[in-house]
Amino acid sequence: MTMTHDGNTRTQNSQLLAWVDKMAALCTPDRIFWCDGSEEEYKHICDQAVESGTFIRLNPEKRPNSFLARSHPSDVARVENRTFICSEREEDAGPTNNWMDPKAMRAELNERFRGCMRGRTMYIIPFSMGPLGSPIAHIGIEITDSPYVVANQRIMTRMGQPVLDVLGADGDFVPCLHSVGAPLEPGQDDVPWPCAANIEDKYIVHFPETREIWSFGSGYGGNALLGKKCFALRIASVMARDEGWLAEHMLILGVESPQGDKHYVAAAFPSACGKTNFAMVIPPKSLDGWKVTTVGDDIAWIKPNPEDGRFYGINPEYGYFGVAPGTNEGSNPNALASLKENAIFTNTALTDDGDVWWEGLTKEPPAHLIDWQGKDWTPNSDRPAAHPNSRFTAPASQCPSIDPDWENPAGVPISAFLFGGRVSKNFPLVFQSFNWEHGVYLAATMGSEATAAAVSQQSMRRDPMAMLPFCGYNMAEYWKHWLRIGRRKVGTPPPIFRVNWFRKDDRGHFIWPGFGDNMRVLKWIVERCEGRAPAVESAFGLLPPYAAMSWEGLDFSQDAYDSIMRIDKEIAQHESLDQAELFARFGDHMPRELEQQRELLLSRLFHSPDVWHLPESDAKAS
Ligand code: GTP
Ligand code: SPV
Ligand code: MN
Repeated sequence: MTMTHDGNTRTQNSQLLAWVDKMAALCTPDRIFWCDGSEEEYKHICDQAVESGTFIRLNPEKRPNSFLARSHPSDVARVENRTFICSEREEDAGPTNNWMDPKAMRAELNERFRGCMRGRTMYIIPFSMGPLGSPIAHIGIEITDSPYVVANQRIMTRMGQPVLDVLGADGDFVPCLHSVGAPLEPGQDDVPWPCAANIEDKYIVHFPETREIWSFGSGYGGNALLGKKCFALRIASVMARDEGWLAEHMLILGVESPQGDKHYVAAAFPSACGKTNFAMVIPPKSLDGWKVTTVGDDIAWIKPNPEDGRFYGINPEYGYFGVAPGTNEGSNPNALASLKENAIFTNTALTDDGDVWWEGLTKEPPAHLIDWQGKDWTPNSDRPAAHPNSRFTAPASQCPSIDPDWENPAGVPISAFLFGGRVSKNFPLVFQSFNWEHGVYLAATMGSEATAAAVSQQSMRRDPMAMLPFCGYNMAEYWKHWLRIGRRKVGTPPPIFRVNWFRKDDRGHFIWPGFGDNMRVLKWIVERCEGRAPAVESAFGLLPPYAAMSWEGLDFSQDAYDSIMRIDKEIAQHESLDQAELFARFGDHMPRELEQQRELLLSRLFHSPDVWHLPESDAKAS
């Protein structure tokens, strides 16, 4: 069956037209709609979504041109156990990914997608990850039956006809097929958030060799906005391996010193560990003259530049899909300003005057709300008003701290890499690796705690480079790629730092104030990049002595500092045994350098005191 649609008035790309026809024949939608990306089209899609109940229009005085969507309670986050990497060989997906034979998966998906768009419109969304026409950018085409996805993609990506114009008659694109997986029988009423309610009916599938994405059954976030994790991380990591660059779960920020020197830093933290906050950090008043600008808050594409031997990074996205809870005037005023208007909120609470609310937005919750499930809520309710993973979708251009070069097609030069997880015990606030290999080892063994762990047992989840759910191939091969790219593709690779904002005291309170005060750590890092700041050598790496950090405007004693910098030998030795278990999973794929680094750490620890402290007085520079 071929459906008539106006595709060939939009593009001469025969590969694209043929794919759309083929997918239409498989999914049998009632209509096909090519998105042009215009303002009028956005308005039309949102109006329709309001009419169908998917969107609630927020009070235009409080939140102009903004909407709230409430998902089905079964569809509130990425589904990692239903995410598949279907490479030809299982070992190419590696032990940390779900693998399924591509032939078997294709057969299963064909069954799932057959007729899945009955009663619905099939939208064709051309999108560019990265500035339109930039040599670093790549084009994707998402086919979806979700108007929610269309509206979000218009904020999150450069989308519409201009992308088709850049694609041209024979340009390449990554095909991204998405369906909520809820066909409508004739006469059947739709629901506000259609999806496949059973987890086993959801599929987030990647075919790395053919660079295809097939997503079924979920309408939420990274499951459905296929440019983000599926393309810009899982498929792009494979492209990056093949072509000699990096696709990373990283924010990029710019730091300008009072003297006007500017550095860009790329930082990887696992999901919900503070990337958006850090990307938009506002330096404390006492650090007068320091300025931070935002390039990206979630994903970085980084390419070596053979001309100057440096890494250059872009943010492939066009908007933020940020965690709402905890965002407030104190923690992240730039994020709040970004979502003042033209925003979409998913699973936040609704106030009586038609605005949004979430836990932590204000100290005192409103006396009455409609919660994320559409139910009445008061401060006495025993459940959160907003879902913990409720999110805002907001245009990056609305961020007050946006960097003037954020759309520079050449990217920005990266001076340092940071890696940080949530570690409540025995892990310093910040330290620098001895060299590139040691830094890759630190990043590869990064751990992060899922929940507040009991004092004695650390329930650590290994999340190498914050890429555990996002690497599209064998993680050990990805480590090799990192080792190689720093050795061969750039002059002197940028220094690598580990950071940890999350160390807790015995009563379970965060010791480090975090947020704006993270600027103090950032300052030491860029001063290290310039060779201006001292460091003390430990078994772990190079640590800032107390006096190397700026403390103006913050009451943080040398004792408190010691409590977030000290290293307990026995715990560190335990930790390295746990790392051995991680490495063992990769068998022959494991790069020898990382095991060597682990053994070197063990031998340094052997010579370390039981509890290692920074020296009391100011140490010599290293
Ligand atoms: P994804 O969008 O899921 O990839 O996550 P993200 O890394 O952008 O997460 P986000 O910035 O939204 O993280 C929010 C969480 O981190 C909230 O629980 C914050 O309270 C917490 N957080 C951010 N910065 C800090 C900090 O400096 N200290 C502490 N203790 N918590 C922080
Ligand atoms: C993450 O989970 O790391 C996110 C949100 O950034 S989502 O796009 O839903 O994956
Ligand atoms: Mn993320």
